[in-house]
Amino acid sequence: MKEQLEALREASRALIDEAVDVEALEALRVRYLGKKGELTALLKQMGKLSAEERPVMGQLANRIRGELESRLEERRSDLAARAQEEKLREETVDVTIPGNVTRLGVKHPMNTVLDEIKEAFVSMGFDVLDGPEVEYADYNFTRLNTPANHPAREWTDTFYFEEDSSILLRTQTSAMQIHAMEERELPIRVIIPGRVYRKDEVDATHSPMFHQIEGLVVDRGVTMADLKGTLNLLVEKLYGKGTVTRFRPHHFPFTEPSCEMDVQCHECGGKGCRVCKGEGWIEILGAGVVHPKVLEGCGIDPNVYSGWAFGMGLERLALRRFNISDLRLIFENDVRFLEQFR
Ligand code: PHE
Repeated sequence: MKEQLEALREASRALIDEAVDVEALEALRVRYLGKKGELTALLKQMGKLSAEERPVMGQLANRIRGELESRLEERRSDLAARAQEEKLREETVDVTIPGNVTRLGVKHPMNTVLDEIKEAFVSMGFDVLDGPEVEYADYNFTRLNTPANHPAREWTDTFYFEEDSSILLRTQTSAMQIHAMEERELPIRVIIPGRVYRKDEVDATHSPMFHQIEGLVVDRGVTMADLKGTLNLLVEKLYGKGTVTRFRPHHFPFTEPSCEMDVQCHECGGKGCRVCKGEGWIEILGAGVVHPKVLEGCGIDPNVYSGWAFGMGLERLALRRFNISDLRLIFENDVRFLEQFR
C-alpha cells in the first residue's frame, strides 16, 4: 500500500508540473481525486489493511491528498497568471508604429469671405436663406419687372430647360426676392447666397457659374439712406474702418432708384493701378430701392411698405480680398493653390 501511495504521489506530481493549461489540471484532479479517481480507489482498499497499518496509511493518504490539492491550486493560479500575461502581450498597442497621416483640408477662400459676410448680416438681424438654382422665368425675370424683350432673357445669355423659355438656371439670386416676399411675414430682412448661371465663356474674370449674395429688406419707412448705411457698415467689416465707398446711379428693372456701389481701391488709394485697372474704384455690387411694381406683385402695399435690395458677386470679393489674379483658380480645386490659405 505504501509503495502504491508513494508511486501515485510521484506520478501525479510530475504530471501536474507538466500540465500546460487549466483544462489539463482539471483532468488530473478528476483522475486522482475524483470519485472514481486513483487516490480514492486506494482509500477504498484501506479496509483490507491490518488495524496497526490502517491509521498510518490513512494519514499518509490524507497528506498526499492535501499535497495534491495545494499543488493543483498553485499550478492553476500560475497558469492563469501566465495566460493573462500572454493575453495582455497580444493586445498591446505599439505606439511607436507610424500612423496613417490624415491630411486636413483648409477653408476655401470663397467660404472665408462668405462666412464673414453672413456674420456681418446675421449680427444686424438678417436671416440667411437658400433657394433653387432651377427657377421659373417668372421669378427670375417677369415678376422682377423685367419685360419679355429684355436682352438678359435671350437664349444666348441664359440657360433654358424649356422651348418656351419658362424654366431656366437662375441668372441672379434676385429671383429669391420674390420667394422671400411670397413666403415670409413682414418685415423681411434676409440675405440669400447661392450659385447663378450665365452663358459666358470661361476666362480670367468670367465663368458660366458664379456666386451671388442677395440682400432684401422690406419694412415700413425703409429708404435709400438705410441701404447706404447698411452697406457702408458691411464694407467696414470686410475692409476695415474708414474704407471709402461711392454710389453711382445705375439701372435695374426691379429697383428704382438703382445704383452700383464702388469701394475705393485698397492698393492705390484711388489713384489708379493694376488692381483697379486704373479706375481707382472697384465695383462690388448692384442695389436699389425695391420697385413698387415688384412689391405689388407679391401682394405688398407699396404705399405702406418699402424696401431695398442688393446683389453682390462673391468671386469678385474673394479675388480682391486675397489678391487672386485669375477667377479660374477659384474653381479648379488645385491643392497647391488651396494650400496657400492654410
Ligand atoms: N441682380 C442684380 C445683378 O445680378 C444685382 C441687384 C440685386 C441689383 C438687387 C439690385 C438689387 O446684377
